[in-house]
Amino acid sequence: MKVLFASSEMYPYSKSGGLGDVAHSLPLALREVCEIIPITPLYRFIDRKKFGLHSLGSVYTLKMGSKTYCYELFQVKESDTLFVYNDILCETEALYGYDNDGLRFGLFSRMVAEIAKKMQVDIVHLNDWHTALTALFLKSESIKTVLTIHNLAYQGVFNRKVLKKLAIDKKYFTMENLEFYGKANFLKAGIAYSEKITTVSPSYAKEILTVRFGCGLDGFLTKHRRKLTGILNGIDTVCFDPEHDRALYANFSADHVGKKAANKKAYYKNLGVKSSKKPLFIFIGRLVEQKGISVIAASLKDLSAEPLEFVMLGEGEAKTEKKLSELSDKYGNIHYLKGYDEALSRQLYAAADFLLMPSLFEPCGLNQMIAARYGAVPIVHATGGLKDSVFEEKKKCIRGIVFESYSKKSCLHAVRRALALYGNKKACLKMAEFDMQCDVSFRKSAKAYMKLYKEMTA
Ligand code: GLC
Repeated sequence: MKVLFASSEMYPYSKSGGLGDVAHSLPLALREVCEIIPITPLYRFIDRKKFGLHSLGSVYTLKMGSKTYCYELFQVKESDTLFVYNDILCETEALYGYDNDGLRFGLFSRMVAEIAKKMQVDIVHLNDWHTALTALFLKSESIKTVLTIHNLAYQGVFNRKVLKKLAIDKKYFTMENLEFYGKANFLKAGIAYSEKITTVSPSYAKEILTVRFGCGLDGFLTKHRRKLTGILNGIDTVCFDPEHDRALYANFSADHVGKKAANKKAYYKNLGVKSSKKPLFIFIGRLVEQKGISVIAASLKDLSAEPLEFVMLGEGEAKTEKKLSELSDKYGNIHYLKGYDEALSRQLYAAADFLLMPSLFEPCGLNQMIAARYGAVPIVHATGGLKDSVFEEKKKCIRGIVFESYSKKSCLHAVRRALALYGNKKACLKMAEFDMQCDVSFRKSAKAYMKLYKEMTA
C-alpha cells in the first residue's frame, strides 16, 4: 500500500505546534507497516544546505482558471520525504498569517492532488485545513483520502473569492459543501469529501460533535459521524529519550530515576534557586486560551504562596507575555521564560517534578507524554486527549493528577494534591518511574491507522 502523507508543517524542517511533531513521528512509525511518502512545502526559511535538499529535476505546471502556476519537487538524501516548492506558497518569512493563506494552501492542496495522481498512490492522508481541499480535488479519482483533524479551532475560513482563483466551481459553495456563514471553509471540504475522518484522541472525536467543542461544525460533523474515529497520538520515543538526550545535564532512565535530581539541581543553580528541596512545576506551550493560560494567570498569586518553584516557557500575544513577565518579577518563585527553545524545553522536562497542563480543550496534547517519558508527573484538566492519556488509577498509563472542572479552584486543588504527593518522596519517585516506562510511542496508533487504510482500500 502506498500512502502520500501531506502536512503544511513537518519537524525538523518547519513547525508551529503539535501538527509539525506528528507529521514527523507518525510517518516514521507508519514506515514499518506500509510505503509512506511524507509531503510538505519547501518554505524559504528551510535551510536547503543544512538538510541537503536537492531538486528532482522537473518543473511542473498547473493551470487554474486563467493562471498557470509552476512547482518543483525536492528531496533530502536517504529520505522519502517530498518537498514542494512554489513561490506563492513558499516565499514567506513564517508558516501562516498572510492575506493570501487561502490561495497558498489551496495551491498546495491542488499540487498534492496532482502528485498523488502522478505517483499512483492508494491513499492520501491529509492533515488539518491546509490540505483539506485535496479531498475535493480528488473526489472523482480512485485514490482514497483520509483527513486527520488536529485542532478543530482552525478551519481555514476565507473570503469566497479565493474559490475562483482555485478554479473551484460555484456549485460547491453550499451548506453541504464549503460554505460557512457566507465564507469558504476549507476544512468542510475535507470533512465532506474524505472517505474517513480521524481526530487525535477518542474523547475529542466525541467532544467535537457537541456545541461546546464543535466550533460551529458540530452539526456538519454529526452528519458525517460514521466516517469519524479518534486515534490517540504518540511521540517519537527515540528523539525524546532521557537516557540519550544530549540536551540534558545528566542522562537517566527508569531504572535510575533518582539521577533525574541532578538535572533539577543544575537547573535551580542556573535559575538562582538555592535549595533544590522544593518541587519544580513547569508549563510549556503556546500562551493561548486553549492551553489554559487564563487559569494559570489567575492562579499565580496563590501559587506564589506555596512551597514550589513554577517555570513557564512559551510565547503568545504581547499582552499575555507582558502580564506573565510582570507577575514573574513580582513573585520570587514564579519564572516566565519568553520564547521557545527545544533544548531548554527538554532540560525543563528532565528537571521537573510536575508538568501542569490545565488546557481548556486539548485534541490530544503531546507534552503530557513527553513529561511522562522524562519522569515529570502530569497534572491535567480532564479534556480530550488529556483525559485519554493521563489517569489517577494505579497501573494505568500515564499516571498523574487529573482535575475535572476548568477553574482556578480545581487547578490549585490539583497542585496541592501534587505537593502532598511530593511530601511522600518514595511514592512520588515510584510514580515518575512508572510513567517513564509507559509506552507513549506511535506504535499502537500506527497500527490503528494501518487498519483504517486497509478498510479504505478493501
Ligand atoms: C494540535 C492540538 C494538540 C495535538 C496536536 C497534534 O496542536 O492542539 O492537542 O496534540 O495538534 O495532533
